[in-house]
Amino acid sequence: MFGGGLSSKTVSMSRTSLVRGFYRLFSIRTGSKLEGKVALITGAASGIGKATAIKFINNGAKVVVADIQHQLGQETAEELGPYATFVSCDVTKESDISNAVDFTISKHKQLDIMHCNAGVPCKTPPSIVELDLEMFDKVMDINVRGIMAGIKHASRVMIPRQTGSILCTASITGLMGGLSQHTYSVSKSAVIGIVKSVAAELCKYGIRVNCISPFAIPTPFTMDDMRQLFPGVDDQRLVKMVHNAGVFEGAYCEPRDVANAALYLVSDDAKYVNGHNLVVDGGFTSFKSLSFPAPDELK
Ligand SMILES: NC(=O)c1ccc[n+]([C@@H]2O[C@H](COP(=O)([O-])OP(=O)(O)OC[C@H]3O[C@@H](n4cnc5c(N)ncnc54)[C@H](O)[C@@H]3O)[C@@H](O)[C@H]2O)c1
Repeated sequence: MFGGGLSSKTVSMSRTSLVRGFYRLFSIRTGSKLEGKVALITGAASGIGKATAIKFINNGAKVVVADIQHQLGQETAEELGPYATFVSCDVTKESDISNAVDFTISKHKQLDIMHCNAGVPCKTPPSIVELDLEMFDKVMDINVRGIMAGIKHASRVMIPRQTGSILCTASITGLMGGLSQHTYSVSKSAVIGIVKSVAAELCKYGIRVNCISPFAIPTPFTMDDMRQLFPGVDDQRLVKMVHNAGVFEGAYCEPRDVANAALYLVSDDAKYVNGHNLVVDGGFTSFKSLSFPAPDELK
């Protein structure tokens, strides 16, 4: 679970159109924290990236939606309205990332926010002795190398302007062992490390680099995984299972919780927040409870 094995590419268009109404609910101008800013978001055709694109647009930004899913990415950009544009981008290809950055500059003359969000889960056996190293390389290529390439090319255009905000999507699986199989977990630990390493250099240029570690959210990414783990169980029940995996009573993690955290981190509200990993998990990774029996259970 939590990035254990899933692929957004397999999500059918009909399912996509089902969630479209959900996203529209949030397509209302709600603030101006990013007025005049330009953002490039990888993996923005779906899930967290899409919710973040909506949040940024609703706060005055222009957004370039970069994704490997051409058709879905284009549909998403159309759905998001005139302040969104789609660019086809596979983050494993440095030339695609470079083109996405150059496209943003040629269209909007600047890049203020780079959100390196694209990521994939991993389907491999959980035991280290059965580790599929080919799969390991493929996941690292997207989840780690893709992030490095995104930061590299964003920095290329941000450094001369001496300003910018770079955000990456990590995961709570990068903070604690046991929440996912090794490959995904290691890839997300690397993202948290990348942020600290790059922040050390880019602070000299007034560029902030941060990441967000969300709890499990039933996006296409997680739902495909859940359907494989629990075949025959209906989607509503699976969504409930993901939500119930959290510790915080009365709320569960949603894409817009991550989008809200993203808005904070890239806006001037966080002007002195740098090299930070903002954990959005309802407290899940902050504590463990000792499971002693209650005194009356000992009798
Ligand atoms: N959903 C969760 O439970 C969860 C929790 C923690 C972190 N995350 C992370 O959040 C990020 C977004 O995931 P999501 O849950 O929104 O999933 P999602 O499947 O809804 O979105 C992921 C997007 O990334 C795109 N993508 C995949 N490979 C790509 C590539 N090579 N180049 C460009 N785009 C590519 C997909 O086409 C898709 O649109 C990922 O980095 C994921 O690891 C997700």
